[in-house]
Amino acid sequence: MERLQKVIAYAGVASRRKAEQLILEGKVKVNGKVVKELGTKVGMNEKIEVNGVPLEKESPVYFLLYKPRGVISSASDDKGRKVVTDFFQELDKRIYPIGRLDYDTSGLILLTNDGEFANTLMHPKYEVEKVYVAKVKGIPSKEKLRLLERGIKLEDGVTAPAKVKLLSIDKRKQTAIVELAIHEGKNRQVRRMLDAIGHEVLKLKRERYGFLTLQGLTTGEFRELSPHEVKQLRALASTEGNRLK
Ligand code: URA
Repeated sequence: MERLQKVIAYAGVASRRKAEQLILEGKVKVNGKVVKELGTKVGMNEKIEVNGVPLEKESPVYFLLYKPRGVISSASDDKGRKVVTDFFQELDKRIYPIGRLDYDTSGLILLTNDGEFANTLMHPKYEVEKVYVAKVKGIPSKEKLRLLERGIKLEDGVTAPAKVKLLSIDKRKQTAIVELAIHEGKNRQVRRMLDAIGHEVLKLKRERYGFLTLQGLTTGEFRELSPHEVKQLRALASTEGNRLK
């Protein structure tokens, strides 16, 4: 179930704000009845009309973007900063990111107009594995990295066990490159996990999302997912969900 104004916006009829206005003006019908409540939730099979015209569902699209640093993972920003959807200005569909990467984090992010698909992938029960590569200050010891493998206490709870690899060290600069594979998506999780063992993150990149990688793309580039990849992601979400049950 989704909020009515969101469904109207995703169908490409109007912005979310304009959709709210249309609802308040009594121009929207659900199953033949005028609905003026902004919070109304509607399901997939409900018949929605705007100004007497039935809503056509936009055909779903799925993209993989190599997000550069300095870009917000959102469809709009009230401070006018660059957002991930700015890379898709030629597209005549309203897409939005699935989950988020910090402003300063680069790497793989998926975007779609398929709300159900996005919700499935973002649901904590189904979180697929994500692999991050971090450049950190100092050289972490094996013992400290093991703490991350076991799970570490953050202010919003203990993290689930992570897979951790020390990829390289630079003794002269006193920095290291660490790979972390996690299933969760707590806010700034990787930065906070590494902070918790005393190693500030200097640079962070998401390299993998399930089986998807950035192969063939450079920063700021995107590609469409194939129907097979979309199917595989759905299957992956449900098997990962089973793993966690
Ligand atoms: N963990 C972080 O700290 N930042 C991100 O952007 C993603 C995961």
